[in-house]
Amino acid sequence: MGNKELINEALEARKKSYCPYSGFAVGAALLCEDGTVFRGCNIENAAYSATNCAERTAVFKAVSEGNMKFRAIAIVGGPKEREPEDFCAPCGVCRQVLAEFCDPETFKIVLMNGDGEIREYLLKELLPLGFTGKALEKTR
Ligand code: THU
Repeated sequence: MGNKELINEALEARKKSYCPYSGFAVGAALLCEDGTVFRGCNIENAAYSATNCAERTAVFKAVSEGNMKFRAIAIVGGPKEREPEDFCAPCGVCRQVLAEFCDPETFKIVLMNGDGEIREYLLKELLPLGFTGKALEKTR
């Protein structure tokens, strides 16, 4: 699956966003190594900290279905009543969750703005010097 198709999946996912508090709708599409795509949207909560980002929704859906090998994630977001205009980069918590499961050297994060310009990043570029389970190996 190409970047544009994965972005289209993210745009579809964004339609399901539940964001009554921020009004900022995000969609994500996570491409697995076997070609399966898991969609996710942000799901807000009146207790704001209980909100889940679109990216984590997609990752948690995949892992809970037994799929933990990922190639790429596409993300789109912006004010909910309009088409996304600006690139929507993943928050720090979502970068950390991606780092738990994805190879930072090869996993791609794909973003698109309102002009249809697509930008692609490696996880290692968006989360340099990340903290991973490797740091905990000596405690086990
Ligand atoms: N949000 C995401 O879904 N993904 C991100 O990486 C950034 C932020 C959501 C969370 C919240 O529902 C809204 O965008 C505003 O922060």
